[in-house]
Amino acid sequence: MNPTSSLPPLLPCDQAPEWPRLQALFAAQGRAFDLRRAFAEDAGRFAHFSQEAPHLFADLSKNLWSREAEALLLALAQSCRLAERRDAMFAGVPINTTEGRAVLHTLLRRPKGLALPGDLPQVAHELAQVHATLDAMLAYAEAQRADAAITDVVNIGIGGSDLGPQMAVLALEAQHIAGKRFHFISNVDGHELHTTLQTLCPERTLFLIASKTFTTVETMTNAHSALAWFAAQGGREVARHFAALTTNVAAARALGITTTFGFWDWVGGRYSLWSAIGLSLAIAIGAEGFRALLAGAHAMDEHFRSAPFAANLPVRLGLLDLWYRNFYGFTSRCIAPYHAGLRRLPAYLQQLEMESNGKRVGLDGKPLALATAPVLWGEPGTNGQHAFFQMLHQGSDVVPLEFIAVRTPTHPLPGHHEKLLANALAQAQALMQGKVVGDGHRDFPGNRPSTFIVLDALTPAALGALLALQEHRVFVSGSLWGINSFDQWGVELGKVLARDLEPRLASGDATGLDASTAGLLQRLRRPGRA
Ligand code: F6P
Repeated sequence: MNPTSSLPPLLPCDQAPEWPRLQALFAAQGRAFDLRRAFAEDAGRFAHFSQEAPHLFADLSKNLWSREAEALLLALAQSCRLAERRDAMFAGVPINTTEGRAVLHTLLRRPKGLALPGDLPQVAHELAQVHATLDAMLAYAEAQRADAAITDVVNIGIGGSDLGPQMAVLALEAQHIAGKRFHFISNVDGHELHTTLQTLCPERTLFLIASKTFTTVETMTNAHSALAWFAAQGGREVARHFAALTTNVAAARALGITTTFGFWDWVGGRYSLWSAIGLSLAIAIGAEGFRALLAGAHAMDEHFRSAPFAANLPVRLGLLDLWYRNFYGFTSRCIAPYHAGLRRLPAYLQQLEMESNGKRVGLDGKPLALATAPVLWGEPGTNGQHAFFQMLHQGSDVVPLEFIAVRTPTHPLPGHHEKLLANALAQAQALMQGKVVGDGHRDFPGNRPSTFIVLDALTPAALGALLALQEHRVFVSGSLWGINSFDQWGVELGKVLARDLEPRLASGDATGLDASTAGLLQRLRRPGRA
């Protein structure tokens, strides 16, 4: 996309006039802030710190901030010109400066023909392309759904080309078409593909090769092996049994895959669920379901774009993330989805937050004085309660939690859902309230923060809104930190070194390697290999 307007100036948060005032406020009340006292002193705390947003409700009141702190953080966002940066992203300005690209995943869920103020001229053309591709992809998805001969859909992809579709396919299981199984192969570890292939029949399988670049070693290796297996099993019609989802259609064709669905370089890998990368999901839940997912995300986009900051959920969450990271110094955030369908959500959010904001230099390439992305981790509740919640309640570190609960279950079993929801509520309550017995071991310090997000039901629209919310909160904190949230140079070095080491495993050549790598190389070499 050709830049025709310049990047909006951005003031990193530690240069804003509110920064020293926040430091003073934190020194005065931060460490001593007590949630129990805050609720006792402010009858309106829940009403103030909770809000509706499209398709969900969020309670931010059990967090370690006062109205005063929040107001200063909101003023900080204004000083840093967050609104201009947000609008620049939506308008197609190439804010991904290290790669010279626009960041337009929001365009993938924009309704046909919707122009936004400030749109670059190219955006209307791109939007038309988006809808033409979406229509073709959804027509293909419907054809696959109608084809009873296809019983297995195998998505081969990694990172954003795996985590998004896999997470969403699991989350929306209740809406799946009957008679089809969905498999996700990501790892270059052949155990994964081999085990799955053993359960498949070539004439009944559709392989989706999902890769933005179509160069990723894991995906190319798995794609080659899947094609070889297909041929060896007597499979015919590659065009019917393989489709490529990629921005690099030429590379897919070079591999012999002629059924292709494209997307664009302005879609980051971790933001690509909404593109052709979502095809496995579209087959699982149908065109209507996929359009509902996009509509839910678009509703959240509109909320982010137009709600005043004080009632703007992604802005409030992003500011809270910054408050915790840069003032409290919390190093991680735990995601606790109280819905088994959301079991891959923590992994998906890990890539979203840590690949986007895991940066230590500013837009100018110079080291930042600030800490950036926290570690994200988590497991569905109630499982986590019987594993690591001990540490969350009584450990030496404070870890903010993010509960995600769903009001309406999709299963009919009596009693389960009430127990599940009661547990989510109880954990948030226990973390805040604590309990003093007086013997040390049985004491809970309490005052441990959490955010609580509620979906009415785990529908495609609600999931779309939840994911867009998470994308935008990452944008908010990344923008305020003054980093480029849309590149990922940190993954490159390991890839280069692996290319060098692979032939050495066969040859045993350890020339120039450090002693540890050389020693491990010898240890890993298989006996009998030259
Ligand atoms: O190596 C990191 C990464 O580039 C991610 O950003 C991306 O989601 C993943 O690899 C897969 O890339 P591709 O879709 O190009 O195969």
